[in-house]
Amino acid sequence: MEVEAHLQSGVPAFSIVGLADRACQEAKHRVRSGIAAAGLEWPRRRITVNLAPAWLRKEGSSFDLAIALAVLAASHQVPAERVGDHAAVGELALDGTVRPVGGVVVAAEGARRDGLTRIVCAAESAPEAALAGIETVPIEHLAELASYLRGEMEPHRPVAANGMPSTPRYPDLVDIRGQHRARRALELAAAGGHNLLLAGPPGTGKTMLARRLPGVLPPLTVDEALEVTRIHSVARLLRPGAGLVRQRPFRAPHHSASMPAVVGGGGSGLRPGEATLAHNGVLLLDELPEFQRPVLEALRQPLEDGTIALARVEGRAVFPARFQLVGTMNLCPCGARGDPSAECSCSPQRVASFRDKLSRALLDRFDLVVTVPRARAAELAGSHGEASDRVRERVVAARDRLAASRPPRTPPADALLDRAVERLPLSGRGRARVARLAETVAALAAADAVGPGHVAEALAYRPPRELAA
Ligand SMILES: Nc1ncnc2c1ncn2[C@@H]1O[C@H](COP(=O)(O)OP(=O)(O)O)[C@@H](O)[C@H]1O
Ligand SMILES: [Mg+2]
Repeated sequence: MEVEAHLQSGVPAFSIVGLADRACQEAKHRVRSGIAAAGLEWPRRRITVNLAPAWLRKEGSSFDLAIALAVLAASHQVPAERVGDHAAVGELALDGTVRPVGGVVVAAEGARRDGLTRIVCAAESAPEAALAGIETVPIEHLAELASYLRGEMEPHRPVAANGMPSTPRYPDLVDIRGQHRARRALELAAAGGHNLLLAGPPGTGKTMLARRLPGVLPPLTVDEALEVTRIHSVARLLRPGAGLVRQRPFRAPHHSASMPAVVGGGGSGLRPGEATLAHNGVLLLDELPEFQRPVLEALRQPLEDGTIALARVEGRAVFPARFQLVGTMNLCPCGARGDPSAECSCSPQRVASFRDKLSRALLDRFDLVVTVPRARAAELAGSHGEASDRVRERVVAARDRLAASRPPRTPPADALLDRAVERLPLSGRGRARVARLAETVAALAAADAVGPGHVAEALAYRPPRELAA
């Protein structure tokens, strides 16, 4: 975005042109007051600020700093040629203080691509801007910026971008007693990046298990971390002063969440939703059937191709949304189904409409469906489970193996898969998903090929009859 200012003689006035939204128009007041507070002069002329290109909608307060600089350069209070090789991003307070804004890393990357050498931003945003590999000029006050541009001072250099401790903390699998089958499914989900649905009566540890998935996933690669940082920066979720996000995202929207909250585009402008915030991480839909059906259906696109395309009055956007989906649910509205010690009081109609909420198409996208039964007293009194660290080691080894080459299926494994397609029956997508899951089973077992045993285990995670009906 280019910001230009033009001063003309005439009745003093100030206008901003170039599709600026309300928050952007309000920059007039902040810039004017900030310039005065910095002991600089507000030109008593007709001032026109143009934000180019004019066809692109500008929103928010991020342009304050650039607008102030354009006015100061046009009125010869700072040297224009020096302003010209700086990018600027930040909001101005009425007293001239520079405030951090969202999207600084993205702005800094754009500035570097445009061949600018330095970016001016709030001191809190400097670690974020530095991630783009451009020299940053951290500024606390507009007065400081003016004297820097006049060559009177050098701003202090920002610290390197990763001041944060780099070992993320997640809840640990050691807390889970028993539930061997569900734990195994979680490990397979982590190793192969599969979607996982945990079904069963309340209080059996489904939510607890789901929250432990990020802790057994491999750490983010640098590229993944950068993607996550960009998204969280745009959504204003980065802590001020934080650099690269090293924590794998884990998002668990409440089941009352609206369509825009989940897929994006809520409020003013094109905001990323939970599905995008979960990019490169885990999206947990706890109590899946309680979500509005259209919200669930809208997730089918990102589950298929890892993106969300939004078309709103504000414009169009394609957001990344490659997440791993974990769902939890009861087997019936009262929750008693699947629990031998309780009697289900739901009418057949209620059970049917409960199941109808989950479309066949959505259910098909879960590679792993496990029922989580009520644990026996002895199991719950027993010893702790295996810790997440140990599970993660196996997961990482299996992922490395799968990344090197996907194991081929042996003829008996092929024959078993073909029989399953006819007997179950299995859709085309279902068959492909079972085949992939069987590869993950083989990789976790460090086998060179997918045998019938691996296919058989993969088939055991197809939706049970209670759900498939
Ligand atoms: N297998 C388990 N091991 C340890 N604690 C468990 C287990 N299952 C349930 N709990 C306990 O029960 C509580 C409820 O578990 P939760 O995951 O919320 O159940 P659900 O989501 O299946 O309704 C947990 O906070 C935990 O204290
Ligand atoms: Mg729960």
